[in-house]
Amino acid sequence: MEDIKLYVTKHKDRFINELIELLKIPSVSADTAFSQDVLDTAEAVKASLVKAGCDFVEICETAGYPIVYGEKTIDPKLPTVLVYGHYDVQPADPLELWTSPPFEPVIKKTDIHPEGAIFARGACDDKGQMYMHVKAFEYMIQSNTLPCNVKFMIEGEEEVGSVNLKTFVENNTKKLKNDVILISDTGMISNQQPSITTGLRGLSYVEVEVTGPNRDLHSGLYGGAVANPINILAKMIASLHDENNHITIPGFYDNVEELSLEERAEMAKAPFNLDNYKKALNLNDIYGEKGFVTNERNSIRPTLDVNGIWGGYTGEGAKTVIASKAFAKISMRLVPNQDWEVITDLFSKHFTNIAPAGVTVKVTPHHGGQGYVTPIDSIGYKAANMAYTETFGVPAIPVRSGGSIPIVALFEKELKSKTILMGFGLDSDAIHSPNEHFGIFNYLKGIETIPLFYKYFVELSK
Ligand code: BES
Ligand code: MN
Ligand code: MN
Repeated sequence: MEDIKLYVTKHKDRFINELIELLKIPSVSADTAFSQDVLDTAEAVKASLVKAGCDFVEICETAGYPIVYGEKTIDPKLPTVLVYGHYDVQPADPLELWTSPPFEPVIKKTDIHPEGAIFARGACDDKGQMYMHVKAFEYMIQSNTLPCNVKFMIEGEEEVGSVNLKTFVENNTKKLKNDVILISDTGMISNQQPSITTGLRGLSYVEVEVTGPNRDLHSGLYGGAVANPINILAKMIASLHDENNHITIPGFYDNVEELSLEERAEMAKAPFNLDNYKKALNLNDIYGEKGFVTNERNSIRPTLDVNGIWGGYTGEGAKTVIASKAFAKISMRLVPNQDWEVITDLFSKHFTNIAPAGVTVKVTPHHGGQGYVTPIDSIGYKAANMAYTETFGVPAIPVRSGGSIPIVALFEKELKSKTILMGFGLDSDAIHSPNEHFGIFNYLKGIETIPLFYKYFVELSK
């Protein structure tokens, strides 16, 4: 039996090159201009699962992009691990801020990744992290050490809300039956300090449209005499937070789970340096809800943020105009027990209520999802912690993340199993930003750690 460390050392160039090939396909799910590329990526993922050793792989069609499903059954009496990941990526724009083209992967050294990192859209989120599982599986097949059954479910619509995956899961609960769900689509504290994500925030995403006059107007002839939709929208948005940065939507905090002082003290033990945090973002100060520290503000507290705002004249020079319409895209990050559909409703009602006479408001909900928390005494958590402890030399710290993987709460509801979030990315990897990258160290460490999760999960399940 070949040791995993040796296997990784021997095959690392091939592992990197295979990932680079996958990253060259621009699988942007949000933009239909890339639809053939998204489909091609599904085929590439399918081929990689076949090659790694699955008995059965299929492309499952949905109303949107397909789901790649694969499995390897060694003994129905043994536990089954369901691996979930996504092969779609975020749009790469603004392109001009990339130091190398987003779909021409290159390895560059950084301060945090002295051994190099692969720069490409999707390198960390989630192609690189998903592919670690394919390579860890390949190792277990090659070395004859796979200790249980495996199912892979790799989707192509995570970055646009996993709407069709929801239907797929609801209709295929038998096929997807498992003992634990394993996902690498989150991060860890640092390359010296692994962590396991124990919470994800929920999400409610809406778009608003404020309409004033029926056409754009001369801002001199009409200015001051009619409501300017952009002014009104700015005022309405500003009123959504009070002077303490609490959200003002009535009922918004009704079901928010308040953590005990003990739990908050436990959270505060995770290493965090505020100066470095500010420095990394070039900020002279932080900002947020009164009564909470940074690591609470971005994990256990709900938020409301404008993601985009537009209207009127934004071209070169000046144009004196009062626009007929103004728009914004708004996301609310939610915490466990807040129901995203209820929150979307509360938002819509409140936003319509606060609109002054002289404008009309339309709220269009986009996608959403519930938050998730998972205990640290489950077999899955313990197995993950043992795996990290072995490969990093220190135990993992449980961390609640601010990000969202909306489908995770649905997995638990439909498939009745816990999800273990074994992330290997870093916050500095710039996911969703220009110059996204994934450390070679992180990629290989992930491949090395995953087989140990299988080993300990099966041992602890006995
Ligand atoms: N992988 C991320 C979520 C993530 C990243 C969670 C890092 C924790 C740590 C995922 O691909 C993502 O971007 N999710 C979206 C939500 C989705 C509905 C578009 C998000 O969090 O904005
Ligand atoms: Mn992701
Ligand atoms: Mn993402």
